[in-house]
Amino acid sequence: MAGFLQDKVVAVTGGGGGIGRAVALAAAAEGARVVVADIGVSMAGSDPTSEVAEAVVREIEAAGGEAVAAADDVSQMSGGEHIVQTAVDRWGRIDGVVAVAGILRERMFFNMSEDEWDAVVATHLKGHFTVFRAAAAVMRKQEGGGALVAFTSGAFAGSVAQANYAAAKGGIVSLVRSIAAGMHRYGVTANAIAPIARTRMSANVPQELAEMGEAEDVAPMVVYLLSDQGRHVTGQVYTVVGSKIAVWDQPQEVRAVYTSGRWTPEEIAARLDSTVGQERMGLIDRLEALRLAAASGDKPNA
Ligand SMILES: NC(=O)c1ccc[n+]([C@@H]2O[C@H](COP(=O)([O-])OP(=O)(O)OC[C@H]3O[C@@H](n4cnc5c(N)ncnc54)[C@H](O)[C@@H]3O)[C@@H](O)[C@H]2O)c1
Repeated sequence: MAGFLQDKVVAVTGGGGGIGRAVALAAAAEGARVVVADIGVSMAGSDPTSEVAEAVVREIEAAGGEAVAAADDVSQMSGGEHIVQTAVDRWGRIDGVVAVAGILRERMFFNMSEDEWDAVVATHLKGHFTVFRAAAAVMRKQEGGGALVAFTSGAFAGSVAQANYAAAKGGIVSLVRSIAAGMHRYGVTANAIAPIARTRMSANVPQELAEMGEAEDVAPMVVYLLSDQGRHVTGQVYTVVGSKIAVWDQPQEVRAVYTSGRWTPEEIAARLDSTVGQERMGLIDRLEALRLAAASGDKPNA
């Protein structure tokens, strides 16, 4: 029986480890030809080695699949272009890109250095732009369009000691929505996964996570979004963890209040709290619960 991704050509950035590796293996098992794109760095982004991507290519080949390694840095324009070109040179097209590559540099916001900011934003946010941009140019012209799958995080809603990471992950959500809007007419979809899975990265987050699963639990949703059966889905954010899939809401105004003419600060002070107020989205309440749990010696749940 033909696989879910039979004959599709898919590039997976960060495909050498963690969730990316699980996605690369699952896509290949479903019949895709896979570019395993990974620069093979430490979790902070240092000590690159091509061995990481090559090892996953060998795993795919040993299972009877087809794959090629690309040890490119996704934070460079040339890296994103080379990943896509590798697929086009080898197999003549690119049907899907899954952007999983990422690093962490955690620090309280008041101590965060420029380098910690730049490295994380470059790897995650620009690292999506480089490879999606290169792929979109090919997908726009080829028959059948294509599918782009981004990796965000629940941290995009706000996270302590991860302002760089959370900002990049929020940017990725906006990027995905913008690509979905702009590429719809060319048959290109863009969606984002907010995963939770046991990897070297999740072992390093500051809070104990309330939900946990395996990298292999995340892969089937990515395969679905890459497949012909998932091509009506676009502009969405899905949490995938263990046996759960959840869809995120779409940003929109919640309440409005009007004045006659222009607002004055005095009138805002008098009327804002009792009309539109604040939309806390649970963030401050959740942080307060974490603080109380920590103070009482309980293990905090994020
Ligand atoms: N694991 C989780 O629970 C979790 C939660 C939320 C979001 N995420 C996101 O999911 C994605 C995968 O996370 P993971 O846990 O598998 O991480 P991981 O550290 O296990 O794997 C990340 C991979 O990306 C590669 N990489 C890093 N920088 C790169 C670069 N510049 N160019 C090319 N490759 C590069 C690394 O070599 C590594 O193989 C990340 O975007 C992460 O932010 C993970």
